[in-house]
Amino acid sequence: MGAGKSTLGRRVAARLARPFVDLDAEIERHAAASISTIFATRGEVEFRAIEEKLAREALDHPVPAVISLGGGAMVSKTTARRLREQALTVFVEVDVDEAWKRARRSRRRPLAERESEFRQLFEQRLPLYEDAADARARDANDIVLAAAGVLVEGGAYGRLGDLVPEQVEIVVDERVRGLHPPPLDAPIHAVPPGEMAKSLSICTRLWQALRLERAGTLVAVGGGSTTDVGGFVAAAYLRGISWVAVPTTLVGQVDAAVGGKTGIDLPHGKNLVGAFDWPERTVVDHELLATLSAAERRNGLAEVVKTGLLAGEELWELPEPELVRRCAAFKAAVCLRDPRDEGERAMLNLGHTFAHALEAASKYELAHGEAVALGLTAALLLSGLPDDAARVDELLAPEPARVDLDAAWAALKRDKKSRGGSVQLVLLDAPGKPRTGVELPEKDVRRALADLIA
Ligand SMILES: NC(=O)c1ccc[n+]([C@@H]2O[C@H](COP(=O)([O-])OP(=O)(O)OC[C@H]3O[C@@H](n4cnc5c(N)ncnc54)[C@H](O)[C@@H]3O)[C@@H](O)[C@H]2O)c1
Repeated sequence: MGAGKSTLGRRVAARLARPFVDLDAEIERHAAASISTIFATRGEVEFRAIEEKLAREALDHPVPAVISLGGGAMVSKTTARRLREQALTVFVEVDVDEAWKRARRSRRRPLAERESEFRQLFEQRLPLYEDAADARARDANDIVLAAAGVLVEGGAYGRLGDLVPEQVEIVVDERVRGLHPPPLDAPIHAVPPGEMAKSLSICTRLWQALRLERAGTLVAVGGGSTTDVGGFVAAAYLRGISWVAVPTTLVGQVDAAVGGKTGIDLPHGKNLVGAFDWPERTVVDHELLATLSAAERRNGLAEVVKTGLLAGEELWELPEPELVRRCAAFKAAVCLRDPRDEGERAMLNLGHTFAHALEAASKYELAHGEAVALGLTAALLLSGLPDDAARVDELLAPEPARVDLDAAWAALKRDKKSRGGSVQLVLLDAPGKPRTGVELPEKDVRRALADLIA
């Protein structure tokens, strides 16, 4: 009571585009009476019976929903069992003083009339909640992250052994292995640092070396390159085994390791082979970022700025642990709404159409973050948002790219996001209001591209 379940539930349902069921409201509708009246006229036992029945109906709903359970629903052993079997259960944490402050104002809560009783109930129910919880949350971001299987916690890497199943093998970026040796007693397969790992020959080597059975789990530890290749190796090995992503770069933590896209490069292009395969869990520990080079941090910052523009919030101003949590939650929600990139997930390409073109024209000499920073300014100018473009310029200070315009233009037209030859752009009506699939006259797009080139 008073944890904010209804408010958070409604917010999370909106973010995940799922129906929302407020069990207390359903009970009142079903009984055509307020909860206080049901308690007063029919007693708590009858109330609990109605609650149990409606909880079952909500859990059996054909479309998965976000359900806000009444504080006492867990007391029913049947409901507790069904939650274990059928739901992801998130414990919304609140301290008892705050809960009492909120609950005593509500007329809907017959069990929140006397403070001593309220506190006693809180103590009694706490072990039930702790036992039932698959995850704990303090706000809507935490709940979205839990739904995506993402754990964001400083120091989590140190207890990786507790967070993964027993039968695991580890794929780790060679450099990361030296800096942050995996704290697990399991077979380790080192892969070359960064993008070099995303090749078919590395996959073949890993497929031949793995000894995992179908029930085993591959744990990929490294930046986006390692989680991309590790995830893809897991997706195809024995026709698919579980995998856990442990991103160690800012790009990985705010972007690459969230959302279930895995893949490798072919000699003629990046990310041309891959699979959608959502990791069983993603373990995000911002403490791993302490060893990151300034250049890698800048690459990450470009994705943070992109996320902030899409979210309409200045996420880049937040302290690093919170910035990571908020960006990961934003991406998780978009990808849970559109896991196979068939619709609105395209918004995550903001600035990337230009960025990919510049990178390809530079033969991948240009840093990804630099290219994204340039791409974002172009997207903002084409969106008619010059002030935001100036802000990105100030935050990321990208230098114009030293590439050939014709080569960049050809790459832009070849981008896998273009359809039937016309380039599809992501623009913003305003920060927080992305528009995907925008087609502009070619001459405007080419001029915007030219403006990014030295
Ligand atoms: N799957 C997706 O949705 C998605 C999204 C964005 C990017 N990506 C992919 O991610 C890749 C880029 O990933 P990235 O930017 O995370 O970098 P990366 O994995 O390529 O690594 C970059 C460098 O950082 C080093 N490194 C990693 N962790 C470190 C640490 N903690 N301390 C010091 N050095 C460390 C690596 O050894 C490497 O040299 C690209 O291949 C891109 O296609 C995938």
